[in-house]
Amino acid sequence: MTTLRIAIQKSGRLNEDSLKIIKDCGISIDNGKDQLKASARNFPLEVFYLRNGDIPQYLKDGVVDIAIIGENVLVEKGEGIQFTQRLGFSKCKVSLAISKNETYTGFDFFTNKKIATSYPNTVKKYVIDKGISTDVHIINGSVEIAPNIGLADGICDIVSSGSTLFKNNLKEVAILLESEAVLAISPKLSNEKQRILKKFEFRIESVLKGRNSKYVLMNAPNNKLQDILKALPGMRSPTVLPLAEEGWSSVHSVISKYQFWEIIDELKEKGAEGILVCPIEKMVL
Ligand code: PRP
Repeated sequence: MTTLRIAIQKSGRLNEDSLKIIKDCGISIDNGKDQLKASARNFPLEVFYLRNGDIPQYLKDGVVDIAIIGENVLVEKGEGIQFTQRLGFSKCKVSLAISKNETYTGFDFFTNKKIATSYPNTVKKYVIDKGISTDVHIINGSVEIAPNIGLADGICDIVSSGSTLFKNNLKEVAILLESEAVLAISPKLSNEKQRILKKFEFRIESVLKGRNSKYVLMNAPNNKLQDILKALPGMRSPTVLPLAEEGWSSVHSVISKYQFWEIIDELKEKGAEGILVCPIEKMVL
């Protein structure tokens, strides 16, 4: 039987959320400790636990078919590999940073300076775009220490909470890339695998839509109903059901989690009462 091979990060910041999204798609995998490969029980999927930096090459070679990977890694090492979905987790930036004590004068600051990084291709592309010449020094870990020990004038690395920069007395001066986890696709998929991929992508889309939305229920006096309904988007339109108490209705709708508080405030102002907000597990449109 044909199975789709998916690579996820073996350990690190994407690992847990990658497994969670697969699970939320209703796919069960036995996740034994130190296991490098696992098969799904109820979907034609095999999971490979790999090192982040190796995944782009595996995709290029068609050794794995798809991967959940940071866009930052794809930009750095995955030239020519496309992704089909942004997955909404592991958000971070790839940024340039310098010592807090330095005065940043704009990107010219880096002219003929040394930048320590594990993202040499990303940095080179940026400096070429800006038309400046710098010395890019590749190191594979603890990049933030480089300016403090005199190894470089600045660094380029992932910034998430910003605490590593802060602890090392550095300040972010330019953002080269905003990144999040994405679903990347090998260029070498057979038609049969494409078909399995479509099913997998459909499930992911439903999970993501659910995660980005809230189901709201409220009681509305009938004389204010029209006004309240105007505040609600709903998938098609809100559901309105009569309550046992005359003159009142129950209104149900789906709202985006990003507009959530604004809409709730408006509903209250317009006379809605007893507002309940529930998470949505999946949303199939
Ligand atoms: C990354 C990166 C930074 C840090 C930034 O390291 O290299 O050091 O995260 O995160 P922050 O802004 O939240 O402090 P990570 O812990 O992922 O491990 P790595 O060194 O293997 O990249």
